[in-house]
Amino acid sequence: MACGGNVCRTENTAEPEASFDTEQRVIPLGEVVPSANSSKPGGDAHPSGAVGNASEGETWETRQAAMELCYAAAAGNTVLMQSLLDAGHNPCNSDYEGKTPLHLAAAAKTGALEVTKLLLSHRANVNAGDRWGQTALYQAQRAKNFEARQMLLDSGAELQNSSLRQQAADNLWSVNRAELHIERELSSTLKSIVHLANWRGTQVVVKCAKLDQVQLMKTYTERNKSEPSIGHSFNDDTLQAMHKELLHEIELLQSFRHPDLVMFMGAILEEEESVMFITEYMSGGDLERYFMEKRRQSNGELWRPSLWQLLDWSTAIARALSFLHNCSQPVVHRDLKPLNLLLTKKLELKVTDFGISKMIPHASSATDHEHYTMTGGVGSWLYMAPEVVRHKPYDVKVDIYSFGLILYFMSSGRSPFYDLGRDPELVLKEYIKGNEPRPRFQECAKQLQPFMCAAWHVDVSQRPSSQELVRELSALQAAPGKCTCLIS
Ligand SMILES: Nc1ncnc2c1ncn2[C@@H]1O[C@H](COP(=O)(O)OP(=O)(O)O)[C@@H](O)[C@H]1O
Ligand SMILES: [Mg+2]
Repeated sequence: MACGGNVCRTENTAEPEASFDTEQRVIPLGEVVPSANSSKPGGDAHPSGAVGNASEGETWETRQAAMELCYAAAAGNTVLMQSLLDAGHNPCNSDYEGKTPLHLAAAAKTGALEVTKLLLSHRANVNAGDRWGQTALYQAQRAKNFEARQMLLDSGAELQNSSLRQQAADNLWSVNRAELHIERELSSTLKSIVHLANWRGTQVVVKCAKLDQVQLMKTYTERNKSEPSIGHSFNDDTLQAMHKELLHEIELLQSFRHPDLVMFMGAILEEEESVMFITEYMSGGDLERYFMEKRRQSNGELWRPSLWQLLDWSTAIARALSFLHNCSQPVVHRDLKPLNLLLTKKLELKVTDFGISKMIPHASSATDHEHYTMTGGVGSWLYMAPEVVRHKPYDVKVDIYSFGLILYFMSSGRSPFYDLGRDPELVLKEYIKGNEPRPRFQECAKQLQPFMCAAWHVDVSQRPSSQELVRELSALQAAPGKCTCLIS
């Protein structure tokens, strides 16, 4: 981009960024700084260069105030911003490009966080779109202002197809739908469909939201309000949440690069197409089905892997968690369970399904929350930490709890809490009553018992960190003369 004097222009019309003149004032690209005769009638030239064409109902003063706020935001100047807001300036007003002070604060190199916080506390519109429909969230993402981004998300900022589309184009992970040849369905839950497909000669997996089916169910429930037979009804909020969940998953996945996480390969975000994304194909399937198949092959006898295999798998999960929990913005998986652990042909294990990582707010209504946990199948509940069930504040240690139960599952060959009865809700009821049921660790490999007991500790602070788990499990793996029998 060439910038000469007070006039900035760009060849790229996709999304020019705001620029600054020598006095560091915002000059919208393509706008020429006014000459004396284009200035306010009877007054001085506008100091920021933002003149003329004020839309109907918008006064010169409003526009000027907006430009001052935008200047303070772009400069990360908290003191100036505070004084402008105290003087009653409206933080929702925008500049010529439709950018609000929040857009500029989110993209600022300095002071982004403080000014963003200030604007949000003065009720700036968190989802306002600029001339290109892009929001402050997109600006924060683009500027890699991750804390500001999180703050926007916490204040209700919504992910958008258009923003992700831009990211996909910038980072070359946009996939053309025509290149994707669907082969067969691998899995279908109430919220998503997963297909095996071929993309440029490689077998891949395609995941999309099951909006169409859900839409049908919604129509059905509207037509048959008196008939409870369908079991679920989806309101618009739930539909929206499902769409958002997929966008959220894409947003997270595209930022991960780790060998113990299923590899994201790209996404289809074309306007006229359903949103979907592709990942590497894990031909060994998920761990739940793998155990079921093994059990079927041994005529219903419990199947248990060797200690070597157990250590290999558990270290892979711990490494994946250590990566996620130590990202600059830590990621809590929140849905760790055997169905979300996938195997390669050579039985290497990788973690998948980031759909509900931070997606369900604590404050969501019980009904919506119920639908969401139910969509994943009963497994979701079994592996969920008590603090989540009780709607208590929680952190990355909920994944450590799930890790403990997964260790139990892998080592014993049984579902956790199988002894509580057939109703999978029983364990939830126990938690809600304040009880702390745990699986019988004595059924598991002796070497792993201390790991699971520590991981599902009632006192959250006593649960080990993922890094500690990696360290201890790796040491056990490396220990000479390790035992390959399961229960000693
Ligand atoms: N990359 C993959 N390779 C093989 N199977 C997969 C892959 N991704 C998902 N699956 C299968 O699809 C199921 C559902 O996928 P998942 O991403 O967990 O969707 P949901 O969010 O609906 O739970 C998994 O439990 C697994 O059986
Ligand atoms: Mg899943």
